Amino acid sequence: MKIDILSLFPEMFDNVFNESIIKRAINDNKVSIKIHDFREFTLDPHKKVDDTPYGGGAGMVLTPQPIFDCVESIKTPESKVILLTPDGVPYKQKIAYDLSKESHLIIICGHYEGFDERIRTLADLEISIGDYVLTGGEIPAMVLVDSITRLLPGVINEQSHLDDSFNDKFLLDYPTYTKPREFRGMEVPEVLLSGDHAKIAEWRYNESVKKTKERRPDLMS
Ligand code: ADE
Repeated sequence: MKIDILSLFPEMFDNVFNESIIKRAINDNKVSIKIHDFREFTLDPHKKVDDTPYGGGAGMVLTPQPIFDCVESIKTPESKVILLTPDGVPYKQKIAYDLSKESHLIIICGHYEGFDERIRTLADLEISIGDYVLTGGEIPAMVLVDSITRLLPGVINEQSHLDDSFNDKFLLDYPTYTKPREFRGMEVPEVLLSGDHAKIAEWRYNESVKKTKERRPDLMS
C-alpha cells in the first residue's frame, strides 16, 4: 500500500513512523509513506497557504490552490482521497478494514481554524476520529496510518487482528494474562491454566460479551 499525507507540519510524523510496527512495515515494503508539505505548492509569492474568511470571523482558512495542486500531482485513478475533519464520518474499525484493501491513500490534514469548503470536492471520504476538535489533522492521520498498517497482510500475526475488539461482532476484547500466575494476591483465572481450548474459547467469548454489555451496550444493539 502507498500512503501520501499532505501536511504543513511534516516533522510531526518523524517519530511515530520511525518506531515499532509501522517502522517494520515500511522496512519490509508492506507500506510506503510519503509526507508532502503542501506549502511547497503555493503560488503565493510569500508562501502563504491561508487567508481570512469571507464574511468575517476569527482565524485563518486554508486556501484551495496549494492543496488542489498537491493532490493533483500525486493522484492516480486508483487513489482514494481522505480529508480529515471533525465533521467527517466517525472512524471505526470497519473503515480501517475497508481502507486496508485500497492500493493508494491520499490523506489531507486540515489545520488552523478550517479550510476552504471547495477543498471537500477533492475527497472521496471525510473522516473524523472522534467528537472533539484537534488543532489539525496530523494526529488523526497518524491514527489512520497506524490502524490501517497493522491490518496489511503480513504486518502482524493474522490471529491478533481477528481477535481485536470492534472486529469480532463488535465485542470488546476479553481479559488477557501473562506470568506470573499470582501477582500481589491477584490470580490468573483457573480456566486459562486448564489447557482445555474449547473451554478457554467459551470463557473468552463470555467475558467479551460481559465486558461489552457493561462498558459499551451501544455496540450490542
Ligand atoms: N481535525 C481536527 N479535529 C479532528 C478530528 N476529531 N478528526 C479528524 N480531523 C480533525
